[in-house]
Amino acid sequence: MRILVLHGPNLNQLGRREPTIYGTLTLQEINRRIEEKAASLGVAAQCLQFSHEGDLVDAIHQAQETADYIIINAAAYTHYSIALRDALASVSVPAIEVHLSNIHRREEFRHHSVLAAVVIGQISGFGVYSYLAAVEAAHGLWQEAKKKEADANE
Ligand code: DQA
Repeated sequence: MRILVLHGPNLNQLGRREPTIYGTLTLQEINRRIEEKAASLGVAAQCLQFSHEGDLVDAIHQAQETADYIIINAAAYTHYSIALRDALASVSVPAIEVHLSNIHRREEFRHHSVLAAVVIGQISGFGVYSYLAAVEAAHGLWQEAKKKEADANE
């Protein structure tokens, strides 16, 4: 199984960016934790960060050929990017939305996600564990789907 993890703008600043909100782990450290978790489940994880909206759109389109699941922290784009929403809706790869912080406990403009309606679900507020829980969920759902497929072909 292959998972593509997409990080949006300003997440490359993690570690020094508002540590009381986002914690002290750098993006490299978070990616290492994701890769370790994925490896423990026999999953291949590719982690990419883009600051520009169009790059994220391109990566989502490419995931159609290269990934079985997308885990996306679109950062600020979560709250207003119809382009990212449409990109996620344009591919058949299921996606999970994650956030380090609990967006519902923060400023009102962060409460709404324009992506929420086109993803399987949202995991928000658990720091690095938001990503690790998403890896676990993607793996479990994928395994279930494979089993159903195999049972149907019997
Ligand atoms: C974030 C929450 C967003 O509101 C914010 O713009 C981010 C990070 C999070 O992971 O908590 O950049 O997605």
